[in-house]
Amino acid sequence: MNILILGSGGREHAFTLKLVESPKVNSVFVAPGNAGTNEIATNVNINPTDFDAVKKLVLENNIKIVVVGPEAPLVNGVHDFFLADDKLKNIPVIGPKKDGALLEGSKDFSKKFMEKYNVPTAKYKSFTSDNLEDGFAFLETLEPPYVLKADGLAAGKGVLILNSLEEAKIELKEMVSNQKFGEASSTVVIEEFLKGIELSVFVLTDGKNYKILPSAKDYKRIGEGDVGLNTGGMGAISPVPFADDNFLNKVEELVVKPTIDGLQKEGIDYKGFIFIGLMNDNGNPSVVEYNVRMGDPETEVVLPRIESDLFELFDGVANQTLNEKSFVVTKQTATTVMLVSGGYPEAYDKNKEISGLEDVADSTIFHAGTALKNGKVVTSGGRVMAITSFGDSIQEALDKSYESISKISFDKMNYRKDIGFDLV
Ligand code: AMP
Ligand code: GLY
Repeated sequence: MNILILGSGGREHAFTLKLVESPKVNSVFVAPGNAGTNEIATNVNINPTDFDAVKKLVLENNIKIVVVGPEAPLVNGVHDFFLADDKLKNIPVIGPKKDGALLEGSKDFSKKFMEKYNVPTAKYKSFTSDNLEDGFAFLETLEPPYVLKADGLAAGKGVLILNSLEEAKIELKEMVSNQKFGEASSTVVIEEFLKGIELSVFVLTDGKNYKILPSAKDYKRIGEGDVGLNTGGMGAISPVPFADDNFLNKVEELVVKPTIDGLQKEGIDYKGFIFIGLMNDNGNPSVVEYNVRMGDPETEVVLPRIESDLFELFDGVANQTLNEKSFVVTKQTATTVMLVSGGYPEAYDKNKEISGLEDVADSTIFHAGTALKNGKVVTSGGRVMAITSFGDSIQEALDKSYESISKISFDKMNYRKDIGFDLV
């Protein structure tokens, strides 16, 4: 069986590593991949949103399952494209169709969905330039801080959290009237600020059955102590110690079941991952957001903890037999620390040679923004690689990740030295 993975991050390297280990998998292709996936699979340099190029690749290489890493191809309809094509329609795609991808692609849609199916979430209303004055009036009914979200995809930048009412009004106007985030902010969701501590729970569903994967916590800010600009994620830990059985049972009953049930009632045949961003407020879960894919770098701690064959789970999704599948998760903790290019998440240099990788023994290196140049591994993105380790405790795992990092270097390499600071 040949598999294609779309994407190029640490998440996709983690998928690749699990799938090449499967006795049922012959060849893994990654499009476009990175220097890490290149070592263990076949990279093909195409853009995952170029569906005609994806089609050609799939047919030429006898691909039997396509796993979609990032959200863009899903929101753009890669799964729908397959279903509409005679030659592709029987090739399963792991990732929802456009209708399901709206859970991430439209905040307004996902809030309406949660409201309709009684999934706990912050109180909200949506506004456009046509009812801007109503938006100002709604802001006045809320307590600070104020949460403003661009409805559409805005490269992870579309959420503003503001302390003053005046600022919130200015930004609302900037978003809906002056296209602060382009078309994505022509509708804005304003919602109540949720207190608590964040974590994520990942669900894999075949549209009828579901499996809850290990929980994880990521560290989104660039600066130690969770300060500074938001990034894609600077590190992650799994499992999350405060997500105990009692809390996770609540998540399953109050969030996962109504979500799967709601999708069915909406007639959305959802096959793929649902990433549920949660706030834990004194043991009570509330949904911050849905994503329609795995998280990055969360995948780099969630998948390594799954000891069973990941292909079997995908096979269950493809054939709607996920209820017949089981999987084993190690009790050990996994931690990952992201090495980033100096300057990220703002401007940064590329093409810096990375050295010391061969000296790392106690960790798994998941490449993200890397490429091969003249046979050498160089940086090619802001987030460069995630260093994942196991331990009997968070501290033990972190110590290994940081020990491994001490062996790796590239010009202006940066990373957070305090991943897990709030948990240990
Ligand atoms: P989102 O893209 O919806 O995940 O929002 C990005 C980040 O903003 C989240 O990870 C939270 O840290 C924060 N956030 C979003 N919505 C809320 C909320 N209602 N209350 C508090 N924090 C929020
Ligand atoms: N680490 C957050 C995300 O993947 O969206």
